[in-house]
Amino acid sequence: MADNAQGNTGNSRETLGEKLYELAKRRGFFYPSNEIYGGLTGFYDYGSTGVLVKRNLENVWRRHFLRFNDNSFELEPSDIMPESVFIASGHIKNFIDPSVRCKKEGIYYRADHIISDATGQNAEGKSPDELSSMISEYKVRCPKCGGELGDVKVLNMMLQVKLGAEGDTIAYLRPETAQGVYVNFLRQFNIQRGKLPMGLAIVGKAFRNEISPRQLLIRQREFTQAELQMFIDPQDIDNAEKWDEVKDYALKVLFSGKEAAETLSCSEISLKAGIPKLYAYYLAKMQQFFADALGLPIDKLRLRELSKEERAFYNRIHFDVEVYLESLGEYKEIGGVHYRTDHDLTGHGSISKKSHEILFNGRKFVPHIIELSTGIDRVFYSLMELFYNPKSEKKEWEWMSFPPRLAPFQFAVYPLVSKDGIPEAARKAAEQLKSRYEIFYDQSGSIGRRYARADEIGIPFSITADYQTLEDNTVTVRNRDTGEQSRIAIADLPAEAEKLL
Ligand code: ATP
Ligand code: GLY
Repeated sequence: MADNAQGNTGNSRETLGEKLYELAKRRGFFYPSNEIYGGLTGFYDYGSTGVLVKRNLENVWRRHFLRFNDNSFELEPSDIMPESVFIASGHIKNFIDPSVRCKKEGIYYRADHIISDATGQNAEGKSPDELSSMISEYKVRCPKCGGELGDVKVLNMMLQVKLGAEGDTIAYLRPETAQGVYVNFLRQFNIQRGKLPMGLAIVGKAFRNEISPRQLLIRQREFTQAELQMFIDPQDIDNAEKWDEVKDYALKVLFSGKEAAETLSCSEISLKAGIPKLYAYYLAKMQQFFADALGLPIDKLRLRELSKEERAFYNRIHFDVEVYLESLGEYKEIGGVHYRTDHDLTGHGSISKKSHEILFNGRKFVPHIIELSTGIDRVFYSLMELFYNPKSEKKEWEWMSFPPRLAPFQFAVYPLVSKDGIPEAARKAAEQLKSRYEIFYDQSGSIGRRYARADEIGIPFSITADYQTLEDNTVTVRNRDTGEQSRIAIADLPAEAEKLL
Protein backbone atom coordinates (compact mmCIF):
# COMPACT_ATOMS: atom_id res chain seq x y z
CA MET A 1 0.00 0.00 0.00
CA ALA A 2 1.39 3.39 -1.01
CA ASP A 3 0.10 5.18 2.06
CA ASN A 4 1.31 4.42 5.54
CA ALA A 5 -1.76 2.78 7.06
CA GLN A 6 -0.49 0.15 9.47
CA GLY A 7 -2.03 -2.31 11.89
CA ASN A 8 -2.51 -6.02 11.59
CA THR A 9 -5.60 -8.19 11.77
CA GLY A 10 -3.43 -10.97 13.11
CA ASN A 11 -4.59 -13.67 10.71
CA SER A 12 -2.37 -12.91 7.71
CA ARG A 13 0.73 -10.95 6.84
CA GLU A 14 -1.31 -8.32 4.99
CA THR A 15 -2.05 -5.41 7.33
CA LEU A 16 -5.58 -4.25 8.03
CA GLY A 17 -4.88 -0.99 6.20
CA GLU A 18 -3.72 -2.91 3.13
CA LYS A 19 -6.77 -5.16 3.22
CA LEU A 20 -9.12 -2.20 3.44
CA TYR A 21 -7.41 -0.41 0.58
CA GLU A 22 -7.44 -3.50 -1.62
CA LEU A 23 -11.13 -4.01 -0.96
CA ALA A 24 -11.82 -0.30 -1.50
CA LYS A 25 -10.16 -0.39 -4.93
CA ARG A 26 -11.52 -3.78 -6.00
CA ARG A 27 -15.14 -3.13 -5.05
CA GLY A 28 -15.39 0.57 -5.93
CA PHE A 29 -15.41 2.24 -2.52
CA PHE A 30 -12.54 4.60 -3.34
CA TYR A 31 -9.33 4.62 -5.34
CA PRO A 32 -6.56 7.05 -6.33
CA SER A 33 -7.77 9.93 -8.46
CA ASN A 34 -6.42 10.29 -12.01
CA GLU A 35 -4.96 6.82 -11.69
CA ILE A 36 -4.19 6.34 -15.40
CA TYR A 37 -1.85 9.34 -15.13
CA GLY A 38 -0.13 8.01 -12.05
CA GLY A 39 -2.50 9.69 -9.54
CA LEU A 40 -2.22 13.01 -7.79
CA THR A 41 -0.95 12.94 -4.21
CA GLY A 42 -3.63 13.75 -1.67
CA PHE A 43 -6.61 13.12 -3.94
CA TYR A 44 -8.96 10.12 -4.04
CA ASP A 45 -12.08 9.37 -6.06
CA TYR A 46 -15.13 7.62 -4.66
CA GLY A 47 -16.26 4.78 -6.90
CA SER A 48 -19.73 3.45 -7.66
CA THR A 49 -20.08 1.71 -4.27
CA GLY A 50 -18.39 4.45 -2.24
CA VAL A 51 -20.64 7.20 -3.57
CA LEU A 52 -23.73 5.35 -2.32
CA VAL A 53 -22.26 4.85 1.16
CA LYS A 54 -20.96 8.43 1.33
CA ARG A 55 -24.35 9.81 0.31
CA ASN A 56 -26.05 7.70 3.00
CA LEU A 57 -23.54 8.93 5.56
CA GLU A 58 -24.18 12.56 4.57
CA ASN A 59 -27.93 12.01 4.79
CA VAL A 60 -27.66 10.43 8.24
CA TRP A 61 -25.63 13.52 9.18
CA ARG A 62 -28.36 15.83 7.80
CA ARG A 63 -31.13 13.95 9.60
CA HIS A 64 -29.26 14.16 12.88
CA PHE A 65 -27.85 17.69 12.82
CA LEU A 66 -30.64 19.62 11.13
CA ARG A 67 -33.25 18.50 13.62
CA PHE A 68 -32.08 20.05 16.90
CA ASN A 69 -34.56 22.88 16.34
CA ASP A 70 -36.93 24.19 13.65
CA ASN A 71 -34.53 26.92 12.62
CA SER A 72 -31.70 24.89 11.04
CA PHE A 73 -31.17 24.68 7.31
CA GLU A 74 -28.55 23.75 4.75
CA LEU A 75 -26.83 26.14 2.30
CA GLU A 76 -24.77 25.52 -0.79
CA PRO A 77 -22.43 28.48 -1.34
CA SER A 78 -19.50 28.61 -3.77
CA ASP A 79 -16.28 26.77 -3.00
CA ILE A 80 -14.16 29.67 -4.25
CA MET A 81 -14.14 32.81 -2.12
CA PRO A 82 -12.39 36.18 -2.36
CA GLU A 83 -9.24 36.98 -0.42
CA SER A 84 -11.05 39.43 1.90
CA VAL A 85 -13.02 36.54 3.40
CA PHE A 86 -9.83 34.97 4.65
CA ILE A 87 -8.30 38.23 5.80
CA ALA A 88 -11.45 38.66 7.89
CA SER A 89 -11.45 35.08 9.18
CA GLY A 90 -7.76 35.14 10.04
CA HIS A 91 -6.84 32.28 7.71
CA ILE A 92 -4.36 34.35 5.68
CA LYS A 93 -2.38 35.00 8.84
CA ASN A 94 -3.03 31.94 10.97
CA PHE A 95 -3.91 28.96 8.80
CA ILE A 96 -0.40 27.65 8.76
CA ASP A 97 1.29 24.35 9.34
CA PRO A 98 4.86 23.75 10.46
CA SER A 99 6.92 22.13 7.72
CA VAL A 100 10.42 20.78 7.57
CA ARG A 101 12.52 19.81 4.55
CA CYS A 102 14.83 16.84 4.22
CA LYS A 103 18.21 18.33 3.24
CA LYS A 104 19.13 15.26 1.23
CA GLU A 105 16.00 14.54 -0.81
CA GLY A 106 14.21 17.89 -0.62
CA ILE A 107 10.92 16.32 0.54
CA TYR A 108 8.71 18.40 2.86
CA TYR A 109 7.05 16.93 5.95
CA ARG A 110 4.62 18.17 8.61
CA ALA A 111 7.16 18.82 11.35
CA ASP A 112 4.83 18.01 14.26
CA HIS A 113 3.76 14.74 12.64
CA ILE A 114 7.23 13.34 11.99
CA ILE A 115 8.34 14.35 15.48
CA SER A 116 5.31 12.56 17.00
CA ASP A 117 5.91 9.51 14.79
CA ALA A 118 9.59 9.33 15.75
CA THR A 119 9.32 10.13 19.46
CA GLY A 120 5.77 9.33 20.54
CA GLN A 121 5.57 12.90 21.97
CA ASN A 122 2.61 15.14 21.10
CA ALA A 123 4.10 18.02 19.13
CA GLU A 124 0.84 19.64 17.97
CA GLY A 125 0.58 23.37 18.60
CA LYS A 126 4.31 23.91 19.27
CA SER A 127 6.07 26.91 17.72
CA PRO A 128 8.58 26.45 14.86
CA ASP A 129 11.47 27.12 17.27
CA GLU A 130 10.18 24.54 19.75
CA LEU A 131 9.79 22.00 16.96
CA SER A 132 13.31 22.70 15.65
CA SER A 133 14.65 22.14 19.18
CA MET A 134 12.74 18.86 19.47
CA ILE A 135 14.21 17.72 16.14
CA SER A 136 17.73 18.28 17.36
CA GLU A 137 17.10 17.04 20.93
CA TYR A 138 15.52 13.75 19.78
CA LYS A 139 17.75 13.50 16.69
CA VAL A 140 14.74 13.17 14.38
CA ARG A 141 15.79 12.36 10.79
CA CYS A 142 14.00 12.11 7.46
CA PRO A 143 11.59 9.15 7.77
CA LYS A 144 12.34 8.10 4.20
CA CYS A 145 16.09 8.33 3.75
CA GLY A 146 17.39 9.06 7.25
CA GLY A 147 18.81 12.38 5.99
CA GLU A 148 19.28 15.50 8.08
CA LEU A 149 16.32 17.88 8.43
CA GLY A 150 16.39 21.66 7.98
CA ASP A 151 14.78 24.33 10.17
CA VAL A 152 11.04 24.25 10.77
CA LYS A 153 9.13 26.86 8.77
CA VAL A 154 5.45 27.67 8.47
CA LEU A 155 3.44 27.35 5.26
CA ASN A 156 -0.07 28.67 4.60
CA MET A 157 -2.30 25.77 3.71
CA MET A 158 -4.82 27.52 1.52
CA LEU A 159 -4.99 26.85 -2.20
CA GLN A 160 -4.98 30.02 -4.22
CA VAL A 161 -6.75 30.48 -7.55
CA LYS A 162 -6.23 33.30 -10.01
CA LEU A 163 -9.41 34.40 -11.73
CA GLY A 164 -10.08 36.25 -14.98
CA ALA A 165 -8.27 36.63 -18.30
CA GLU A 166 -5.26 38.29 -16.69
CA GLY A 167 -5.43 36.10 -13.63
CA ASP A 168 -5.20 39.19 -11.47
CA THR A 169 -8.10 38.48 -9.13
CA ILE A 170 -6.81 36.42 -6.24
CA ALA A 171 -9.26 34.05 -4.62
CA TYR A 172 -9.04 30.87 -2.57
CA LEU A 173 -10.64 27.47 -2.48
CA ARG A 174 -12.26 27.50 0.94
CA PRO A 175 -10.21 25.60 3.54
CA GLU A 176 -13.33 24.98 5.65
CA THR A 177 -17.00 25.08 4.67
CA ALA A 178 -17.73 27.33 7.65
CA GLN A 179 -16.84 30.61 5.92
CA GLY A 180 -19.50 29.92 3.27
CA VAL A 181 -22.09 30.18 6.03
CA TYR A 182 -20.60 33.21 7.78
CA VAL A 183 -20.59 35.41 4.66
CA ASN A 184 -24.32 34.72 4.30
CA PHE A 185 -25.22 35.26 7.94
CA LEU A 186 -26.88 38.69 7.56
CA ARG A 187 -29.09 37.63 4.66
CA GLN A 188 -30.05 34.29 6.23
CA PHE A 189 -30.83 35.90 9.60
CA ASN A 190 -33.50 37.96 7.81
CA ILE A 191 -34.73 35.00 5.76
CA GLN A 192 -35.03 32.96 8.97
CA ARG A 193 -37.06 35.77 10.60
CA GLY A 194 -34.39 37.07 12.99
CA LYS A 195 -34.44 34.20 15.51
CA LEU A 196 -31.69 32.68 17.64
CA PRO A 197 -30.51 30.01 17.99
CA MET A 198 -30.18 29.69 14.25
CA GLY A 199 -28.47 26.77 12.54
CA LEU A 200 -26.85 26.81 9.10
CA ALA A 201 -25.05 23.84 7.63
CA ILE A 202 -22.94 23.01 4.61
CA VAL A 203 -22.07 19.55 3.41
CA GLY A 204 -19.40 20.26 0.85
CA LYS A 205 -15.79 20.36 -0.21
CA ALA A 206 -12.88 21.94 1.60
CA PHE A 207 -9.37 22.27 0.18
CA ARG A 208 -6.02 22.39 1.92
CA ASN A 209 -2.52 22.24 0.57
CA GLU A 210 -1.49 19.59 3.09
CA ILE A 211 2.29 19.36 3.28
CA SER A 212 2.32 15.60 3.47
CA PRO A 213 -1.01 14.00 2.57
CA ARG A 214 -1.14 10.48 3.99
CA GLN A 215 -3.22 7.69 5.42
CA LEU A 216 -5.56 7.45 2.41
CA LEU A 217 -8.78 9.43 2.99
CA ILE A 218 -7.59 10.70 6.35
CA ARG A 219 -5.33 13.49 5.11
CA GLN A 220 -6.23 14.67 1.63
CA ARG A 221 -5.97 17.96 -0.17
CA GLU A 222 -9.62 17.94 -1.21
CA PHE A 223 -12.15 16.51 1.21
CA THR A 224 -15.77 16.78 2.31
CA GLN A 225 -16.82 18.44 5.51
CA ALA A 226 -20.27 18.49 7.07
CA GLU A 227 -20.42 21.46 9.37
CA LEU A 228 -23.28 22.97 11.33
CA GLN A 229 -22.88 26.52 12.56
CA MET A 230 -25.15 27.35 15.50
CA PHE A 231 -25.58 31.10 15.98
CA ILE A 232 -26.43 31.82 19.59
CA ASP A 233 -27.01 34.65 22.00
CA PRO A 234 -23.77 34.70 24.07
CA GLN A 235 -25.89 35.17 27.20
CA ASP A 236 -27.32 31.69 26.55
CA ILE A 237 -24.00 29.84 26.60
CA ASP A 238 -24.88 28.34 29.99
CA ASN A 239 -28.52 27.85 29.18
CA ALA A 240 -29.46 24.92 26.96
CA GLU A 241 -33.16 24.91 26.18
CA LYS A 242 -33.23 21.12 25.88
CA TRP A 243 -30.89 20.40 28.80
CA ASP A 244 -33.20 17.74 30.24
CA GLU A 245 -32.68 15.67 27.09
CA VAL A 246 -28.95 15.34 27.77
CA LYS A 247 -28.23 16.13 31.41
CA ASP A 248 -27.90 12.45 32.37
CA TYR A 249 -26.33 11.39 29.07
CA ALA A 250 -22.81 10.01 29.59
CA LEU A 251 -19.96 11.47 27.58
CA LYS A 252 -16.55 9.89 27.17
CA VAL A 253 -14.11 12.72 27.60
CA LEU A 254 -10.37 13.06 27.78
CA PHE A 255 -9.57 16.36 29.47
CA SER A 256 -6.49 18.27 28.45
CA GLY A 257 -3.47 17.19 30.49
CA LYS A 258 -5.13 13.92 31.61
CA GLU A 259 -3.89 10.47 30.65
CA ALA A 260 -7.15 8.56 30.53
CA ALA A 261 -10.65 9.25 29.29
CA GLU A 262 -13.48 9.51 31.85
CA THR A 263 -17.17 8.84 31.49
CA LEU A 264 -19.18 11.72 32.93
CA SER A 265 -22.76 12.88 32.51
CA CYS A 266 -23.38 16.24 30.88
CA SER A 267 -24.41 17.59 34.30
CA GLU A 268 -21.10 16.48 35.81
CA ILE A 269 -19.18 18.02 32.92
CA SER A 270 -20.94 21.28 33.44
CA LEU A 271 -20.68 21.31 37.25
CA LYS A 272 -17.24 19.77 37.81
CA ALA A 273 -15.36 20.83 34.71
CA GLY A 274 -17.06 24.19 34.20
CA ILE A 275 -18.06 23.45 30.61
CA PRO A 276 -21.02 25.72 29.71
CA LYS A 277 -24.31 23.84 29.42
CA LEU A 278 -25.03 24.78 25.83
CA TYR A 279 -21.58 23.62 24.79
CA ALA A 280 -22.05 20.35 26.72
CA TYR A 281 -25.42 19.91 24.99
CA TYR A 282 -23.71 20.07 21.59
CA LEU A 283 -20.94 17.72 22.75
CA ALA A 284 -23.70 15.24 23.58
CA LYS A 285 -25.32 15.72 20.16
CA MET A 286 -21.97 15.09 18.53
CA GLN A 287 -21.28 11.89 20.46
CA GLN A 288 -24.84 10.71 19.76
CA PHE A 289 -24.22 11.13 16.05
CA PHE A 290 -21.17 8.88 16.04
CA ALA A 291 -22.28 6.36 18.64
CA ASP A 292 -26.03 6.13 18.02
CA ALA A 293 -26.82 7.44 14.53
CA LEU A 294 -23.78 5.77 12.92
CA GLY A 295 -23.43 2.92 15.40
CA LEU A 296 -19.67 3.26 16.04
CA PRO A 297 -18.58 1.43 19.21
CA ILE A 298 -18.24 3.85 22.11
CA ASP A 299 -15.09 2.09 23.33
CA LYS A 300 -13.34 3.33 20.14
CA LEU A 301 -14.55 6.91 20.53
CA ARG A 302 -13.56 9.78 22.79
CA LEU A 303 -14.05 13.52 23.03
CA ARG A 304 -10.61 15.06 23.55
CA GLU A 305 -10.24 18.52 25.01
CA LEU A 306 -7.54 20.56 23.28
CA SER A 307 -5.17 22.72 25.28
CA LYS A 308 -4.78 26.44 24.55
CA GLU A 309 -1.72 25.69 22.38
CA GLU A 310 -3.46 22.93 20.43
CA ARG A 311 -6.76 24.72 19.78
CA ALA A 312 -7.62 26.19 16.39
CA PHE A 313 -6.84 29.91 16.41
CA TYR A 314 -10.51 30.92 16.51
CA ASN A 315 -11.67 28.72 19.38
CA ARG A 316 -12.35 29.45 23.05
CA ILE A 317 -13.39 25.86 23.82
CA HIS A 318 -12.39 23.01 21.56
CA PHE A 319 -13.03 19.28 21.90
CA ASP A 320 -12.20 16.94 19.03
CA VAL A 321 -14.09 13.73 18.42
CA GLU A 322 -11.51 11.01 18.00
CA VAL A 323 -11.80 7.41 16.92
CA TYR A 324 -9.25 4.68 17.50
CA LEU A 325 -8.24 3.20 14.16
CA GLU A 326 -6.38 -0.06 14.38
CA SER A 327 -5.14 0.29 10.80
CA LEU A 328 -3.30 3.46 11.82
CA GLY A 329 -2.46 2.34 15.35
CA GLU A 330 -3.70 5.61 16.86
CA TYR A 331 -6.65 7.86 17.65
CA LYS A 332 -7.67 10.11 14.77
CA GLU A 333 -9.67 13.31 14.80
CA ILE A 334 -12.91 12.90 12.86
CA GLY A 335 -14.79 15.94 14.07
CA GLY A 336 -14.86 18.77 16.56
CA VAL A 337 -17.07 21.05 18.58
CA HIS A 338 -15.71 24.57 18.32
CA TYR A 339 -16.81 27.52 20.41
CA ARG A 340 -15.72 30.21 17.94
CA THR A 341 -17.37 33.07 19.90
CA ASP A 342 -17.85 36.20 17.74
CA HIS A 343 -14.43 35.76 16.12
CA ASP A 344 -15.70 35.24 12.57
CA LEU A 345 -18.71 37.56 12.47
CA THR A 346 -16.77 40.42 14.05
CA GLY A 347 -13.97 39.83 11.53
CA HIS A 348 -16.40 39.90 8.60
CA GLY A 349 -18.11 42.98 10.05
CA SER A 350 -14.86 44.86 10.20
CA ILE A 351 -13.45 43.87 6.77
CA SER A 352 -16.76 44.07 4.83
CA LYS A 353 -17.73 47.25 6.70
CA LYS A 354 -21.19 45.78 7.23
CA SER A 355 -22.06 45.59 10.88
CA HIS A 356 -22.85 42.07 12.02
CA GLU A 357 -24.58 43.27 15.16
CA ILE A 358 -28.18 42.21 15.43
CA LEU A 359 -31.06 43.37 17.55
CA PHE A 360 -32.43 40.45 19.53
CA ASN A 361 -34.40 40.33 22.78
CA GLY A 362 -34.02 44.10 23.06
CA ARG A 363 -30.20 43.97 22.95
CA LYS A 364 -27.68 44.71 20.20
CA PHE A 365 -24.81 42.21 19.89
CA VAL A 366 -22.80 40.07 17.51
CA PRO A 367 -24.02 36.45 17.84
CA HIS A 368 -21.61 33.78 18.98
CA ILE A 369 -21.03 30.58 17.05
CA ILE A 370 -20.74 26.98 18.18
CA GLU A 371 -19.58 24.90 15.26
CA LEU A 372 -20.17 21.16 14.96
CA SER A 373 -17.67 19.99 12.40
CA THR A 374 -17.43 16.51 10.88
CA GLY A 375 -14.90 15.26 8.34
CA ILE A 376 -16.97 13.02 6.08
CA ASP A 377 -14.02 11.20 4.45
CA ARG A 378 -12.41 10.38 7.78
CA VAL A 379 -15.72 9.04 9.03
CA PHE A 380 -16.13 7.08 5.80
CA TYR A 381 -12.73 5.46 6.33
CA SER A 382 -13.61 4.75 9.98
CA LEU A 383 -16.87 3.09 8.91
CA MET A 384 -14.95 0.90 6.50
CA GLU A 385 -12.53 -0.15 9.19
CA LEU A 386 -14.99 -0.58 12.04
CA PHE A 387 -17.55 -2.52 10.00
CA TYR A 388 -14.90 -4.64 8.28
CA ASN A 389 -14.82 -8.38 9.03
CA PRO A 390 -11.90 -10.48 7.84
CA LYS A 391 -12.31 -13.98 6.42
CA SER A 392 -13.14 -16.44 9.19
CA GLU A 393 -14.59 -19.88 9.81
CA LYS A 394 -18.04 -18.32 9.59
CA LYS A 395 -17.45 -16.81 6.15
CA GLU A 396 -14.61 -17.55 3.83
CA TRP A 397 -14.66 -14.07 2.42
CA GLU A 398 -14.21 -10.57 3.81
CA TRP A 399 -17.41 -8.70 4.54
CA MET A 400 -18.77 -5.38 5.68
CA SER A 401 -21.37 -5.26 8.43
CA PHE A 402 -22.70 -1.78 7.63
CA PRO A 403 -26.02 -0.95 9.26
CA PRO A 404 -28.73 -0.95 6.53
CA ARG A 405 -29.03 2.86 6.53
CA LEU A 406 -25.36 3.15 5.51
CA ALA A 407 -25.10 0.14 3.21
CA PRO A 408 -24.68 0.95 -0.51
CA PHE A 409 -27.71 -1.19 -1.33
CA GLN A 410 -30.30 -2.46 1.11
CA PHE A 411 -31.15 -5.50 -1.02
CA ALA A 412 -29.43 -7.64 -3.61
CA VAL A 413 -31.76 -9.49 -5.95
CA TYR A 414 -30.72 -12.58 -7.90
CA PRO A 415 -32.27 -15.08 -10.23
CA LEU A 416 -30.95 -18.53 -9.27
CA VAL A 417 -30.38 -19.29 -12.97
CA SER A 418 -30.60 -17.15 -16.09
CA LYS A 419 -33.33 -19.15 -17.81
CA ASP A 420 -36.80 -20.71 -17.47
CA GLY A 421 -38.47 -17.41 -16.52
CA ILE A 422 -36.48 -17.10 -13.27
CA PRO A 423 -34.88 -13.70 -14.20
CA GLU A 424 -38.38 -12.32 -14.88
CA ALA A 425 -39.50 -13.53 -11.44
CA ALA A 426 -36.44 -11.89 -9.84
CA ARG A 427 -37.18 -8.62 -11.65
CA LYS A 428 -40.72 -8.77 -10.30
CA ALA A 429 -39.33 -9.04 -6.77
CA ALA A 430 -36.95 -6.12 -7.42
CA GLU A 431 -39.84 -4.01 -8.75
CA GLN A 432 -41.59 -4.32 -5.38
CA LEU A 433 -38.71 -2.63 -3.59
CA LYS A 434 -37.08 -0.38 -6.17
CA SER A 435 -39.00 2.79 -5.41
CA ARG A 436 -37.97 2.80 -1.73
CA TYR A 437 -34.57 1.12 -1.55
CA GLU A 438 -31.30 0.82 -3.43
CA ILE A 439 -31.36 -2.55 -5.19
CA PHE A 440 -28.35 -4.41 -6.54
CA TYR A 441 -29.43 -6.76 -9.31
CA ASP A 442 -26.85 -9.44 -10.04
CA GLN A 443 -27.24 -12.24 -12.53
CA SER A 444 -23.68 -13.42 -13.10
CA GLY A 445 -21.71 -16.19 -11.41
CA SER A 446 -22.68 -18.92 -8.98
CA ILE A 447 -25.09 -17.99 -6.21
CA GLY A 448 -22.29 -18.46 -3.64
CA ARG A 449 -20.08 -16.03 -5.54
CA ARG A 450 -22.94 -13.56 -5.71
CA TYR A 451 -23.50 -13.78 -1.93
CA ALA A 452 -19.79 -13.14 -1.43
CA ARG A 453 -19.88 -10.07 -3.70
CA ALA A 454 -22.89 -8.68 -1.81
CA ASP A 455 -21.24 -9.33 1.57
CA GLU A 456 -18.02 -7.64 0.51
CA ILE A 457 -19.84 -4.36 0.02
CA GLY A 458 -22.10 -4.90 3.02
CA ILE A 459 -25.56 -5.49 1.46
CA PRO A 460 -27.67 -6.59 4.43
CA PHE A 461 -30.23 -8.77 2.60
CA SER A 462 -30.10 -10.92 -0.55
CA ILE A 463 -33.27 -12.04 -2.29
CA THR A 464 -33.20 -15.02 -4.63
CA ALA A 465 -35.87 -16.15 -7.09
CA ASP A 466 -35.72 -19.90 -7.79
CA TYR A 467 -37.91 -22.64 -9.29
CA GLN A 468 -40.25 -22.57 -6.31
CA THR A 469 -40.90 -18.89 -7.09
CA LEU A 470 -42.53 -19.97 -10.34
CA GLU A 471 -44.92 -22.20 -8.37
CA ASP A 472 -45.85 -20.10 -5.33
CA ASN A 473 -44.53 -16.56 -5.93
CA THR A 474 -42.19 -16.70 -2.94
CA VAL A 475 -38.48 -15.84 -2.82
CA THR A 476 -35.73 -16.57 -0.32
CA VAL A 477 -34.37 -13.72 1.77
CA ARG A 478 -30.88 -14.26 3.17
CA ASN A 479 -29.60 -12.29 6.15
CA ARG A 480 -25.99 -11.17 5.60
CA ASP A 481 -25.00 -11.33 9.28
CA THR A 482 -26.46 -14.70 10.21
CA GLY A 483 -26.60 -16.41 6.82
CA GLU A 484 -30.17 -17.48 7.70
CA GLN A 485 -32.75 -17.71 4.95
CA SER A 486 -36.53 -17.45 5.01
CA ARG A 487 -39.19 -17.64 2.29
CA ILE A 488 -41.35 -14.61 1.72
CA ALA A 489 -44.15 -13.95 -0.78
CA ILE A 490 -43.16 -11.39 -3.40
CA ALA A 491 -46.32 -9.42 -2.65
CA ASP A 492 -45.28 -9.16 1.03
CA LEU A 493 -41.78 -7.87 0.29
CA PRO A 494 -42.48 -4.14 0.89
CA ALA A 495 -43.99 -4.80 4.32
CA GLU A 496 -41.30 -7.37 5.22
CA ALA A 497 -38.56 -5.01 4.04
CA GLU A 498 -39.80 -2.34 6.38
CA LYS A 499 -39.66 -4.80 9.29
CA LEU A 500 -36.22 -6.07 8.33
CA LEU A 501 -34.66 -2.64 8.01
P1 ATP B 1 -5.62 17.62 11.74
O1 ATP B 1 -5.20 18.09 13.12
O2 ATP B 1 -5.76 16.14 11.65
O3 ATP B 1 -4.83 18.25 10.65
P2 ATP B 1 -7.50 19.69 11.72
O4 ATP B 1 -7.49 20.03 13.18
O5 ATP B 1 -6.74 20.56 10.81
O6 ATP B 1 -7.11 18.17 11.51
P3 ATP B 1 -10.06 20.77 11.33
O7 ATP B 1 -9.43 22.00 10.80
O8 ATP B 1 -10.67 20.84 12.70
O9 ATP B 1 -9.00 19.59 11.25
O10 ATP B 1 -11.12 20.26 10.26
C1 ATP B 1 -12.40 19.80 10.60
C2 ATP B 1 -12.56 18.34 10.19
O11 ATP B 1 -12.24 18.19 8.80
C3 ATP B 1 -11.59 17.42 10.92
O12 ATP B 1 -12.16 16.96 12.12
C4 ATP B 1 -11.39 16.30 9.94
O13 ATP B 1 -12.38 15.30 10.13
C5 ATP B 1 -11.58 16.95 8.59
N1 ATP B 1 -10.28 17.16 7.94
C6 ATP B 1 -9.39 18.14 8.22
N2 ATP B 1 -8.32 18.06 7.41
C7 ATP B 1 -8.55 17.00 6.58
C8 ATP B 1 -7.82 16.42 5.50
N3 ATP B 1 -6.66 16.92 5.13
N4 ATP B 1 -8.35 15.34 4.86
C9 ATP B 1 -9.53 14.83 5.25
N5 ATP B 1 -10.27 15.35 6.26
C10 ATP B 1 -9.80 16.42 6.92
N1 GLY C 1 -14.58 24.50 10.28
C1 GLY C 1 -13.66 23.94 11.15
C2 GLY C 1 -12.42 23.52 10.53
O1 GLY C 1 -12.40 23.19 9.35
O2 GLY C 1 -11.43 23.53 11.19
